[in-house]
Formats: sequence, structure tokens, C-alpha cells
Amino acid sequence: EKGGFEHYMLKEINEQPEVVRACLRAYSDPPRFRNQLIFDSTTDSLTLTACGTSYHAAEVGKFIIEELTGIPVRLEIASEIRHRPTIIKTAKAIGLSQSGETADVLTSLKRMKEAGIETIALTNVFQSSISRIADDTIYIPAGPEVAVAATKTFVAQIIALIKLALAHQSVDRTMRDQINLELERIPHKIQQILDNRHLIKQATSLVAAADQVFFIAKGVNVPIALEGALKAKEIAYINAEGFCAGELKHGPFALLSPSSTVIAIIAGDENQASITASVREIQARKSKVVCITRENDSTFNDSTDNILRIPSTHRLLSPILNAVVVQLLAYYTAEARGCPIDFPRNLAKSVTVE
Ligand code: F6R
Repeated sequence: EKGGFEHYMLKEINEQPEVVRACLRAYSDPPRFRNQLIFDSTTDSLTLTACGTSYHAAEVGKFIIEELTGIPVRLEIASEIRHRPTIIKTAKAIGLSQSGETADVLTSLKRMKEAGIETIALTNVFQSSISRIADDTIYIPAGPEVAVAATKTFVAQIIALIKLALAHQSVDRTMRDQINLELERIPHKIQQILDNRHLIKQATSLVAAADQVFFIAKGVNVPIALEGALKAKEIAYINAEGFCAGELKHGPFALLSPSSTVIAIIAGDENQASITASVREIQARKSKVVCITRENDSTFNDSTDNILRIPSTHRLLSPILNAVVVQLLAYYTAEARGCPIDFPRNLAKSVTVE
């Protein structure tokens, strides 16, 4: 039932081209999607609430929704908002939960509903608890996810939020067409990354042996740095942290040493010069750097830098491709360290207690 793969996690990572295709089919009818869902002219603000990996999908969604629609999006960690005395009112709130059973998300969505906010569930599990609480539900068609570490559902959540943003009437038409066109190419580009996964496996020697690992990124990829670090902690038991690249010099720099490894996610967007400068500063401090960058990026030198090259895409879709790379990095690191990949210690697939 692992489809020939050694672990469910690797199987689920490999299902991602098909999951993206399923999402694009499911969300292919913008008027219906729009009516059923979220964005009408009265939606002037939005809250996204979730935990863990789903929270990182919400962070990517916030960036994209704000850029494409100008609608301000609040992000709330579900375990925090459920205890806060004040709920800030927005027109609508989306609770993201793969399992639909995460206690903190259920409670926080209930609180939002009581505060008079219209609530929507974004979940992978039909008729899960979250869909009974929320006023409306959007399903992600990712299929069952068995490994504790969320992978294909993360990518599916991001696609759902992008499609929601694109359904809003204020989105520039050319931008919408460009993104939609590029979305169609994403399954093939993910497949290219999967077909070259041996290169990612090779790069993991620098991660598996490091005392500490930092993931850095800028802009829409910052949540992918956080997600890469979460995955490395969760399944490879590595002391890993994710940062905005520009924040390194405000403290974390003190931790850099020759035994640290930094994974830099470089998306070829407006942040290229700034993140390149960060990489050079880190190298000057003798830490090892692995750059995840695009196939045509000439800023880095294949003979002196450690580079993982992946296909280029629209800058707002780059988190999807980078997510696949950090999943594989964590997977192969965990394998090299002999960890029980599908069922890491102390963790459960759905956290139904506070
Ligand atoms: C990490 C992971 C967790 C979940 C979190 C929320 O790989 O799987 O961080 O994302 O427990 O779970 P759901 O999305 O089911 O609410």
C-alpha cells in the first residue's frame, strides 16, 4: 500500500503532481468557487487560523491574497487565539486543518463564529469535525495522508488559497491569466524535481552532519523556510530554525559556526540581491550554505557553491516547488540518520487535545 515506496511520506511526496492536478480540476470553475466561498464585495478583511504545517500554508496564503487582492489578512496561531481575551473581527475567517480534527483549530473557529465572523473550513477530510463547526467548507482533494508529516496536503492548501485569491474580482486580469497558465505547468515541474531527487539526497550529507541547520528565505518563501525547519525537526530530529534572511544579522548570526549549515531559498524575485548578500556573509563566516535556486540563476557558481537547481516559475508559485525540495531534504536527512520517518517519536497525526 506504500506503492513501492519505502515510506508513506515518500509516496505522498511523489503524489504531489497528481494532487495539484486534482486541485486544479476541483477549483476550475471560478464563478461557482467564488459563490460557494469567500470573496464577495463585502469581504474587506480575512483571518486565517491553523497550527503547524497548515499554519505555514496560511502564511503563504496571506502573502498571495494580500498582494493579489489588497484585502488585509490576519494570521492567528490557533492555540494562541483560543485563549486571547479579544477576538479582532474580520469579515470572514478560514480555519485550515488537514485532519479537520485539531482541537485548537476547532476551538478557535468556534470563538470566531461566536464573535460574529463568518467561518470557512479548509480541510482534507470529508465531514470532519471542522466542517460541522464552520458555516461553509472547502475540501482539498489530496486523498488520505498517512505519514505524520504533512506534505501533499500542504501543497493542496496553498493551491486552494491561490485559487481563492484569483477568484476575487479585483485581481488584475493579466496577472490572473499568467498565474493560471503557470499553475498548469506546476505538476510537470514538481515531477522534474522528483525525477532529480538523487541530487537532493546528495546534498543532505551537509544537513545530516550539521550541529544546527538554518533555513533562510525572503518574501513569499519565508513560510517555506519555517516549514523546512519544522520538517527537519519533526522527522530528522535536527536542531533547525527558519528565518527571514534579513533577520539573521539581528541575532541568529551569533550562532553561525563552521559546524552549521544554512539552506538558502532563492526565488529570483525582487529579493535576489538582498538574499545573495546574506549568502555571501554567511559563507564569509565559514558556515556551509546550500542554495535552492532556479535553473537559470547565474548569481551562483556551480563549482564553488552548493546549489540545488529547480525549474523556474511565477514568483508567487515558487513556494510550491521549494516546498517539495525541503520535504525531500528532510526525508533524506531522516533516512541518513536512521529515523522512523512515518511515525516520529512523541507525535500524532491529528492532535485532538489542547
Ligand atoms: C507537520 C504536521 C503538523 C500539522 C498540525 C496541524 O508535518 O503535520 O504540524 O500540520 O498538527 O494539523 P492539521 O492540519 O490536521 O490541523
